[in-house]
Amino acid sequence: MEINNITDIHSHVLPGIDDGAQNLPASLILLHMLAEQGVGRLVLTPHFYSYRESLEDFLARRTASMRQLLSTDYIREADPELHAAGGPYAIYSEAQIFDGTDPRAISLYLAAEVYLTEMVQSLEDVQPLLFGRERYLLLEMPFDQTWQTRTYQQIDALVAKFGITPVIAHVERYPAGSKGRNTDVLNELTKRGCLLQINVDSFGDRKTRKAIHNLLKDGWVDAIGSDAHDPVNRPPRFKEFEAIVAKKTRHFQYEDVNLPL
Ligand SMILES: [Fe+2]
Repeated sequence: MEINNITDIHSHVLPGIDDGAQNLPASLILLHMLAEQGVGRLVLTPHFYSYRESLEDFLARRTASMRQLLSTDYIREADPELHAAGGPYAIYSEAQIFDGTDPRAISLYLAAEVYLTEMVQSLEDVQPLLFGRERYLLLEMPFDQTWQTRTYQQIDALVAKFGITPVIAHVERYPAGSKGRNTDVLNELTKRGCLLQINVDSFGDRKTRKAIHNLLKDGWVDAIGSDAHDPVNRPPRFKEFEAIVAKKTRHFQYEDVNLPL
């Protein structure tokens, strides 16, 4: 059986915490689907809106949600030292015995999808929201028509204060960056050290499909995500992505868009 070789850095698989998986069975179905589709590393990124709740409250809800996952036979908590070093927090496997040989095992990283506001930079510490050794922070941007100087200043402030590497979530979905050829916006972002993530299910919409084609073709994409929310309405769609998009984009391979964790 093929080893799972996809790094999915954007998902709403944690149960009952946001508009993603509503309960534990839904989470497990999503994990099963992701494993079947070739995901080997999955970053769990529930929404964090700093204007709605404190970081402490969010983290308490995230811990409670993660505990639900860990209560099953399918998920094992990883070595805490490994987690401290940026490694996985837990491991999912269909095999009930975790001997490291299950090719469908998924390493789970615990992080968040953080909506960009001025409030994020006034947090004391964002460490629990980050993933990977490069201190990646998955940022959901304002869905305005244009991003203003203030938007870019907010990113600069986060980089300066916390030493993070911003990763722009589903860059193809914002009016400001949507055409996939809006190089002014893309340059502004990359100039600041931002990495760009696309959603694999964006092929489902004509406009965003064109955008991800262009972004992939022109080499803008650093990372990919399923943005999986639930098994029925927003499932992971890697296989369709491969068939529809990757075939059109010559030389596409996951290795080029697997963010090193
Ligand atoms: Fe998301």
